[in-house]
Amino acid sequence: MSMKLLKKLSEAAGIPGREEALRAIVKEELRPLTDEIYTDSLGNVIAHKKGSGKCKVMIAAHIDEIGFFISHVDEKSGFLRIEPVGGFDARVLMAKRVLVHTESGDLIGAIGARPVHVMSEEERKKPLEVKDLFIDLGLSGDKVKKKVMVGDFVTLRQDFVEMGDHVSGKTLDDRLGVYVMIEAVRRVKKHKADIYAVATTQEEVGLRGAKTSAYAVTPDIGIALDVTIASDVPGTPEQDQVTRLGKGTAIKIKDSSSISHPKLVRRFREIAEKKKIPYQMEILPRGGTDAGALQLNKEGSAAITLSIPTRYVHTVVESAHKADIEASIALLAAFLETAHEADISL
Ligand code: CO
Ligand code: ZN
Repeated sequence: MSMKLLKKLSEAAGIPGREEALRAIVKEELRPLTDEIYTDSLGNVIAHKKGSGKCKVMIAAHIDEIGFFISHVDEKSGFLRIEPVGGFDARVLMAKRVLVHTESGDLIGAIGARPVHVMSEEERKKPLEVKDLFIDLGLSGDKVKKKVMVGDFVTLRQDFVEMGDHVSGKTLDDRLGVYVMIEAVRRVKKHKADIYAVATTQEEVGLRGAKTSAYAVTPDIGIALDVTIASDVPGTPEQDQVTRLGKGTAIKIKDSSSISHPKLVRRFREIAEKKKIPYQMEILPRGGTDAGALQLNKEGSAAITLSIPTRYVHTVVESAHKADIEASIALLAAFLETAHEADISL
């Protein structure tokens, strides 16, 4: 496994609609592995590895990460206000470092809120909300005014690290999926299906890039790659853990965006059994993936999600087990090599 590429993907910055940096990395990686590659008007990168023309498989992994747009610049104090793009828990944002991406370069900032020391008893009881937060650049209002504009975007700043048997950092959602997609395409040897590896945009605001790219590709089979909740942490009863780290790649049965095609679920499971690839079955009560858009494209397609179990999703310490990442690559590559034989009739 190339930790270098995963680190690069994790540390790159790109919120929904501002995925330029990720597009550049994905193009560089996928161009030599595929026959044609292009970018559509939503910024999706669509890479086609030619097959026999009888069966089209589209893989979707989203390149956007949750973040913010600058919504207000206080020209007197220099503090910045933010509009979230994607779902955040304000509790995990407080006291974090950020990068403000401006036309003239990136600025380091800190997310602050009023100190608890000056709050009333009443105020202290209220849960923190994103609207209570602001960004401090350490610059005067005059300087900030010259550098930052409303509409500049903000990402959380975090190093990617190997931590024990895990990897840990920001945006494993869904740079892990992007990584698995690239590595699986690299690993595929003989294949008859036409493979479309698509780095999708704007997933975090409603599967938008997957919608237009699926329309263009019109796949027979759609596979979303994304992280899923691993709540195998103290205080969660076993039946509510969804997935567990180190127990293998997760074959999704359902979430709130899609119910996976039953024959694809069975086929993924059978391949995993045959190749002795560790796997677990996943039912996620809340949350969705690009499979929701793939499945409902035009007259529909047979869709499934292959998930990488991840702890602390949507925080800067998202963590996944290296063995689960490897299992995900192995299972996807094995599926792609025989995808043309998959029976998807119902
Ligand atoms: Co997400
Ligand atoms: Zn995701």
